[in-house]
Amino acid sequence: MLSLILPTFNEAKNLPVMIPKIEETLQSVEHEIIIVDDDSPDNTWKVAQEMSEKMHNLHVIRRVGRHGLSSAVVEGFLAAKGDVLAVADADGQHDLSILPIMFAEVKSGSNIAIGSRYVEGGSVGDWEEDRQSISRFATALAMFVCKVDVRDPMSGFFAIDRETFEKTLSKLNPKGFKILLDFLVNAPKKTTVTEIPFVFGERIHGKSKLEFKVKVEFLEYLYDVTVGRFIPLTFLKYCIVGSLGIGVQWGTYYSVSRYILEAYNLTIVGFSIALLSAIEVAIFFNFILNNMWTFNHLKLRGMKAVGGFLKFNVACAVGAFANYAVAALIFSQGYREITAVVVGAIVGTFWNYTINRLVTWKG
Ligand code: GDD
Ligand code: MN
Repeated sequence: MLSLILPTFNEAKNLPVMIPKIEETLQSVEHEIIIVDDDSPDNTWKVAQEMSEKMHNLHVIRRVGRHGLSSAVVEGFLAAKGDVLAVADADGQHDLSILPIMFAEVKSGSNIAIGSRYVEGGSVGDWEEDRQSISRFATALAMFVCKVDVRDPMSGFFAIDRETFEKTLSKLNPKGFKILLDFLVNAPKKTTVTEIPFVFGERIHGKSKLEFKVKVEFLEYLYDVTVGRFIPLTFLKYCIVGSLGIGVQWGTYYSVSRYILEAYNLTIVGFSIALLSAIEVAIFFNFILNNMWTFNHLKLRGMKAVGGFLKFNVACAVGAFANYAVAALIFSQGYREITAVVVGAIVGTFWNYTINRLVTWKG
């Protein structure tokens, strides 16, 4: 049996067009349809539930408090009864007429059958230049990390046999849109793939949900499965934030000493005031950026963020002290201010990663 998953977010108007089309295409294939909706504000789940009352083979999963195309697909697969699991967009862009071919391919021994835009006979249709080049670029990057030779690893239209799905399940990282790529990267070595060409169509109603965040998640994923095996992404991000923080510290130090203290020949007291304020500003800057970006999967909000910021300060205190002590020492030896401030900041940054992993963003 074929289990077709339709992930949906705000597709209320498309479902009444899509479902009859699918039924017609799959007339000769035993199948079920599972709609996985993320509590769409346009009530897609309700439209789906109403339709399912009249169709015994249509099931609806309404997810609350969870979000994302890939994880919706995995959840649909988990609820499915078929021995072949497939997914298609619910907006009409995938050519459903190839579904029976995809099903037959998997039945006859392919582990994965992909509806492909990049094999002969397929195309992306009427996309604008930009989206075409972004898609080609993303596809080229994705092909680089795939174990299997595939032309369209970013397709959102594919079928997979239950066994391959189950063998891969525990390794998946279902963030963003790259669910097929994730299967191709983690599937067992001998996995066989067939690509069936199709022309990517126009959306019936509504607009794409492929936002900036999804693109960033894709790049992070590529990093994770390559260099990330050696240098964890969180650590890299923390270092980037830290380096920017050093710039912020120098900038603040410079502004305070020149414009507020108006001193060009600083005494150690003036130096200390300017530096300590700069350290606090840098701590604040690092906290905000780390919370929003480095540790976005553990993001602290509201009062928790205030508490986190206090903890972050405490955790940074020893680093800040080292930062100050080293800088003051270098300064008092008559070195240039920038040397003193920057070297101090580097020493402080080193300390901070470990301690904040232990105290602020545990997880
Ligand atoms: N449940 C759920 N949750 N469904 C979602 C979510 C979500 O967060 N985001 C999107 N969807 C659903 C949409 O409602 C639609 O049915 C399908 O997933 C595809 O989303 P679109 O927003 O239409 O994606 P697209 O057309 O820009 O991208 C398509 O092409 C890409 C390759 O160029 C998709 O097929 C992608 O999977 C594919 O990578
Ligand atoms: Mn679409």
